[in-house]
Amino acid sequence: MLNFRGAKFIKSATSKLDRPEKKLKEVLFVGRSNVGKSSLINALVDNKSLCFTSSKPGHTRLLNYFEIKDSCYLVDAPGYGYSKAGHQHDENFAKMMEDYFSDNNELSLVVFLIDSRREVREEEMDLFNLFNADHIPYVIVLTKCDKLNQSEKAKAIKEINTSLSHVDKSNILFTSIDDKKSIESLQKYIANAIK
Ligand code: GTP
Ligand code: MG
Repeated sequence: MLNFRGAKFIKSATSKLDRPEKKLKEVLFVGRSNVGKSSLINALVDNKSLCFTSSKPGHTRLLNYFEIKDSCYLVDAPGYGYSKAGHQHDENFAKMMEDYFSDNNELSLVVFLIDSRREVREEEMDLFNLFNADHIPYVIVLTKCDKLNQSEKAKAIKEINTSLSHVDKSNILFTSIDDKKSIESLQKYIANAIK
């Protein structure tokens, strides 16, 4: 099993050309602003202060590389769908992600975060199509599931299956940063993907 603890921040990059010199497999965390990407990385590596998290959306702006020692990078992407800077920010985001996904030999897994309480938006469908088109392995992570009861969970799964076509059930996980079991399931998924 990978040793997630002791993960270190390496650098912020503007594109994949700007990635760290040492090549390792990459696991990208992507999703709407405020969905919980940075918090989830912190939960995975058991270090609350590794990534900066914020209750205000739009905090993470670049691709932030965190190294799991000699195994892989966890890459925290900026959130999208937040427009303090108007549409310009989302356009920049779309360009940055298109560039990141294309011909990316290092990318081993996309962890695609969707807030379990919300409907799937068009931007999320676009992003999903983007990594499907490039045959990039993904896992859909439904975040903040501590806010849901069983029937709401079933509704969330239904919403995914309706909005995103061809999602296998084994590619959907629920997480809550305070639920250790859910974090361990994601750790196992990641360890498997970078084998
Ligand atoms: P950007 O960097 O702006 O794109 O946001 P982000 O996706 O990195 O979100 P971040 O991790 O900063 O979390 C946003 C808010 O959601 C914070 O207030 C977190 O405390 C909260 N949050 C994250 N994960 C969970 C969770 O599992 N459960 C609950 N209840 N809240 C969570
Ligand atoms: Mg963030």
